[in-house]
Amino acid sequence: MGQPMNVGVVGCGAISAQYFPTIDRLPQLRLVAVADLDPDRAREAVQPYAGVDVLSVAELMADPRVDVVLNLTVPAAHAEIALAAIAAGKHVYCEKPLAATAAEAGRILQAADAAQVRVGCAPDTVLGTGTQTARKAIDDGLIGRPVAATAMMVTPGHERWHPNPDFYYVPGGGPLLDMGPYYITSLVTMLGPVTTVIGAASRTRAKRTIGSGPRRGEEIPVTVDTHVTGVLVHASGALSTLVMSFDAATTKAPHIEVHGEKGSLVVPNPNHFDGLVQVLSIGDDGWRDLPVAAGYLEAGRGVGLADFAATPVGEEPRAGGTLAFHVLDVMESLLASAHSGAAVTITSTCARPRPVASPGVTLW
Ligand SMILES: NC(=O)c1ccc[n+]([C@@H]2O[C@H](COP(=O)([O-])OP(=O)(O)OC[C@H]3O[C@@H](n4cnc5c(N)ncnc54)[C@H](O)[C@@H]3O)[C@@H](O)[C@H]2O)c1
Repeated sequence: MGQPMNVGVVGCGAISAQYFPTIDRLPQLRLVAVADLDPDRAREAVQPYAGVDVLSVAELMADPRVDVVLNLTVPAAHAEIALAAIAAGKHVYCEKPLAATAAEAGRILQAADAAQVRVGCAPDTVLGTGTQTARKAIDDGLIGRPVAATAMMVTPGHERWHPNPDFYYVPGGGPLLDMGPYYITSLVTMLGPVTTVIGAASRTRAKRTIGSGPRRGEEIPVTVDTHVTGVLVHASGALSTLVMSFDAATTKAPHIEVHGEKGSLVVPNPNHFDGLVQVLSIGDDGWRDLPVAAGYLEAGRGVGLADFAATPVGEEPRAGGTLAFHVLDVMESLLASAHSGAAVTITSTCARPRPVASPGVTLW
């Protein structure tokens, strides 16, 4: 392995607490600087880590040590920060979604292409053993030709636990743009890109009440659909049915199921790295647990960035910008279909990301 990639983090809110410990133990990455609109938040976030500078966003962008900007801001700021990083000649790895709109995400990819820097994007959970073991089972023919999938995410909404949940209820948020990236990235990893979508969506209320932290009790406006359903037609011909909701209690349905001509597969939560994969072949008496067969072991948020750092020049990182753009295009088109009542053709596409080593590998 060569020199570690030097990371500058912009945005030190809730999710940064999951990235910092992973970066700290990954030899491919070295955290050199952080920035946040609130410098006290940035200072507090990196307090356990020695030698990390707290800078302004402009200082971080200008810092010659920073190779890659890890963009952990809210979705509405993703494009602004990513474009500033690219303009400064840095690679960018962004939390999901890649941007609040596909148009903004397209500008990020174009700018990166022109500047010859790379774009990566969460989720990296699908590089863990859960989705990767399921993908291998499909690729090995365990369920035969995939015909259909279901993806279900039902929760009353993140304002119950997140102290600053405003971004979940404005464009770039909602159950689809917030949670959809996990489910749709997993579906594309297993079944390939999407060519057409048909959607329907609803919204139960115009305001939400913050349930934790200093702003507990404060009402925030809702300007996005909070229950989104639809069908994704994959280029392979497989049909995925999606339910993403911030409007109901929960569900007992599996997070994802994939049905093939010969059998069905239960795929674990794509918001987690690991989890049990189960298969049932036609004629079997019951579900069979599959052993871990692929994916990054003991992974945490940040392995996608380490994978990005380890990807040879000229190859698309597994958690890459092209995939993230396609997933965002699919989600935006699903909402457009829900509003127009007509099917929408997806003009973007991507290759299935390369599988992660079998029978599983650690990055440290
Ligand atoms: N909270 C989670 O559990 C979670 C899980 C997975 C992914 N994510 C994703 O991570 C991202 C951040 O989520 P979060 O929960 O950490 O949000 P957050 O609101 O807790 O933190 C975001 C931070 O970014 C800073 N920020 C916003 N705009 C900025 C700008 N222009 N320049 C510099 N700093 C800026 C804010 O001050 C804040 O500290 C989102 O894209 C979200 O979808 C969050």
